[in-house]
Amino acid sequence: MTAKDGPRTFRELRLALDGRRKPKEAKPANPLRQGLRLERVPDPCAIVLFGATGDLAHRKVLPALYQLRRTNLLPHEFMLVAVGRRAYDDDAFRAEISASLAKYSRVPVEPAIVDEFVARIVYHQGDFGDNEAFDRLSTRLDAIDLEHGTRGNRLFYLAAQPSAFAEVVGQLGRVGLDHEVHGGGWRRVVIEKPFGRDLDSATRLNREVGKVFREKQVYRIDHYLGKETVRNLMVFRFGNGIFEPLWNRRYVDHVQITVAESIGVESRGAFYEETGAARDFLQNHLMQLLALVAMEPPAAFEAEALRDEKVKVLRAISPMTPDEIRRDVVRGQYGPGWVAAANVAGYRSEPHVSPESETETYVAARFTIDDWRWAGVPFYVRSGKRLPKRASEIAIQFKHVPHRLFRDTAAEPEPNLLAMRIQPDEGILLRFSAKVPGLGIDVRNVNMDFTYGSAFSVDSPEAYETLILDALLGDASLFTRADEVEEAWSIVTPILETWIDMPAPAFPNYEAGSWGPDDADELMARDGRRWRRI
Ligand code: BG6
Repeated sequence: MTAKDGPRTFRELRLALDGRRKPKEAKPANPLRQGLRLERVPDPCAIVLFGATGDLAHRKVLPALYQLRRTNLLPHEFMLVAVGRRAYDDDAFRAEISASLAKYSRVPVEPAIVDEFVARIVYHQGDFGDNEAFDRLSTRLDAIDLEHGTRGNRLFYLAAQPSAFAEVVGQLGRVGLDHEVHGGGWRRVVIEKPFGRDLDSATRLNREVGKVFREKQVYRIDHYLGKETVRNLMVFRFGNGIFEPLWNRRYVDHVQITVAESIGVESRGAFYEETGAARDFLQNHLMQLLALVAMEPPAAFEAEALRDEKVKVLRAISPMTPDEIRRDVVRGQYGPGWVAAANVAGYRSEPHVSPESETETYVAARFTIDDWRWAGVPFYVRSGKRLPKRASEIAIQFKHVPHRLFRDTAAEPEPNLLAMRIQPDEGILLRFSAKVPGLGIDVRNVNMDFTYGSAFSVDSPEAYETLILDALLGDASLFTRADEVEEAWSIVTPILETWIDMPAPAFPNYEAGSWGPDDADELMARDGRRWRRI
């Protein structure tokens, strides 16, 4: 371009200037954010929270929603209808929520955001058996769509008593709140755990839910699946080339899955008396972890493919016979003891617990998976309350090297171990042997340790944040499917049934602050193994 035929219009002038302008100095990219997912924001929607006055809603669900709001991951057009039996006006309920957020939020709350968040909550009083309350709910949701632009998209969140799940779902069906209107709004239902008490009740509940919602509208929560390290397990296994070839009976000696809690049953004595560790942890959290460790690589990283593979693993675990249960499953109940330098009561002295309770607060089991990959490799799982610390991990114990060249050295190397820490200090540890510096050949085990905290400068989200966001986005990958829940129950139900017929163990059989009953150690010792010290 010459001066003569220079820019004539304003646009030409701007383009010409832009061409001459020094490019803006690029902001250096934050290397720690590389590869992080850019989150999507869900569609405008209303969440209807059943059991909104309960513990779970206050401790987990509402703080997670607040956090999503704070980080702009909730749509701008968002409303929450809190359903509960008690009478509240909106302001009183909002004040309670604000107080709970201050108590349970994982980050210090910002008052302006709290006010803005609670302003989107309305309280709806009603008994789950009350038809009129559901008729009103339906009308109210239509009005909310008009007033707040939530476009008919609705997420029904069942955080109520599990015994009320079927009734609430039935009511939603009765008033037609399950209907997805073509081009006019999705309807989804999130169902908390425990999903049933045994195979029969879970199958019945699935049937009731299935009468109202199609399976793709149903999101059954197991919050362990939303934990960062658990999600990373899939990336670790299927995003790396070097581990998968070793992930089988040829190289793996056994697998240990531990979910230890230092807390007791706290204020949940009444719930726990009805539940126990097998229903509270084994059927869901432990079985899910086991399935994720053992499953075959799915063809795609999407809900159906993932869940198909998990179901196959659960199916490959044959339900145990009563004799196998007596031999391979251990239950325990804590007595008084010391945890973190505090003297704590035994389970039978906890509030709302019977002084003769036979409910187990600890369970350990040995499973085998009868498939090509895992035949003969035991999977040991354990979980309990009032153990010495809160620590969950999955440990893959590899076999000894085939030819033990260093067996005569000062310390013969132990076989390799890969430990995935789920919480706390989320990370992955690989143990291998190294030569001790010096003139001789001394061999020691050393650890290569990856921790999330130091590798990424971002906080891990709470499991509930991940899962609620996924449900709002319509991604069911981290939720359990009907057949999956039933498969897990078909493994655990024979255990519960056998326990009814077996003489109760001499409870309490472990001291609070210990690693569980002696029988659990014997379970391992019988196989020439021991639990990993965590
Ligand atoms: C719940 C159990 O599913 O998980 C509780 O019902 C348990 O008994 C809780 O305390 C533990 O969750 P987290 O995320 O603290 O390991």
